[in-house]
Amino acid sequence: MNIKEIHLKLENLLKKSYSPYSEFKVACILEDPEGNLYEGVNIENASYGATICAERSAIANAVTKGVRKIVSAYVMTSSDSFISPCGICLQTLVEFMPANSQVVLFNNQKSYKIWKLENLLPQSFTKKDLLNE
Ligand code: THU
Repeated sequence: MNIKEIHLKLENLLKKSYSPYSEFKVACILEDPEGNLYEGVNIENASYGATICAERSAIANAVTKGVRKIVSAYVMTSSDSFISPCGICLQTLVEFMPANSQVVLFNNQKSYKIWKLENLLPQSFTKKDLLNE
């Protein structure tokens, strides 16, 4: 799927964000190696700490469908800046994405910037650290 089609999908997905408290909308689309797409939005809660970010909502969607490898992440927010996924979401993405995978950040102005995951979260903690490799 090309970037214009992804952009259109993100714009529609962003409308599904449930964010009545912050009014900060986030949408995420993850792509597996076969090109299948998995969507997520941020879902807030009156008990604020129960909120889930769009990226982790998309990961939960993908992993529940049996996916174990993600090659691209596309994230759009309602901001006119390019917003990085938060630390917890980056850590969650690292579990399933190779370090050099692309993370494409869209603002609300039809622009995007491409990052490598390893540049958004350098020196991340991975299963290699647990195995002492
Ligand atoms: N949010 C995300 O969905 N992803 C992030 O990586 C950062 C923050 C959401 C959580 C909350 O609903 C709103 O943005 C404001 O923090």
